[in-house]
Amino acid sequence: MKARALSTAFLPLHTPRVNLLWAAVLLAALFWLSVPAQAAETSPAQQTKGDAPTRAPSRKPDVIYVPTPQAVVDKMLQMAEIKLGDVVYDLGCGDGRIVATAAKRYGVKAVGFDIDPVRVQESLATVRSNKVEHLVTIKEADIFTLDLREATVVFLYLLPSLNVRLMPQLEKLKPGSRILSHDFDMRGAKPVEVVTVTSGGSGVDENDYEGNQHTIYKWVVPWEKEPLPPDSEKKAGDGK
Ligand SMILES: C[S@@+](CC[C@H](N)C(=O)[O-])C[C@H]1O[C@@H](n2cnc3c(N)ncnc32)[C@H](O)[C@@H]1O
Repeated sequence: MKARALSTAFLPLHTPRVNLLWAAVLLAALFWLSVPAQAAETSPAQQTKGDAPTRAPSRKPDVIYVPTPQAVVDKMLQMAEIKLGDVVYDLGCGDGRIVATAAKRYGVKAVGFDIDPVRVQESLATVRSNKVEHLVTIKEADIFTLDLREATVVFLYLLPSLNVRLMPQLEKLKPGSRILSHDFDMRGAKPVEVVTVTSGGSGVDENDYEGNQHTIYKWVVPWEKEPLPPDSEKKAGDGK
């Protein structure tokens, strides 16, 4: 009885009405498949802040988006001692200002990674407006899945615990590679330089009020290990 019911269930497939139904289903499937493809093929010219997609990230970002004020970007780039041939990575690139500035000013290759599709679109717009498409690549990716070994300069503006989580990946960078972190240290790694920048208050960014203090940490690979104080867990700074 069951076998018969199953076999007769396929019979109507050969009727014209069901053929039409299948054609409709096929068309709907083709349309659905074409939607992400169209988004991926959006030309950078169309990728402005105004029409960024609303697609959600593949998972919740580990830290919210706060841009590094341009004056701090400039100081971080200067501290990185960038030279021709360097490859610059920004892990969690936000609107792409660090990679775009690095490429424009120093003529180096740069790659920005962000887990949030909206940030990826904004970065592509920044790259385009700075005319550095030939040097900069923007990728939607989770930074904790990346092989970082191609980079010689890495920028971070994350959280102390996220810097620590990245250490196994950062340790594999080529000797002499520089790591620059805005505002957050990397427990267990002694920086070679720590600089404080006081914001002039351009008012352009939410993080750029006059008098705001920004700390920049620099490490050179392989970094010197720093002994952890006994209560270091409590001092992680971001509660993770
Ligand atoms: C504080 S913002 C820094 C933006 C930029 N680097 C700058 O300094 O202007 C941190 C960025 O990291 C991104 N992010 C958070 N978790 C991430 C992850 N697991 N993988 C990739 N990007 C991530 C956020 O979407 C956000 O754009």
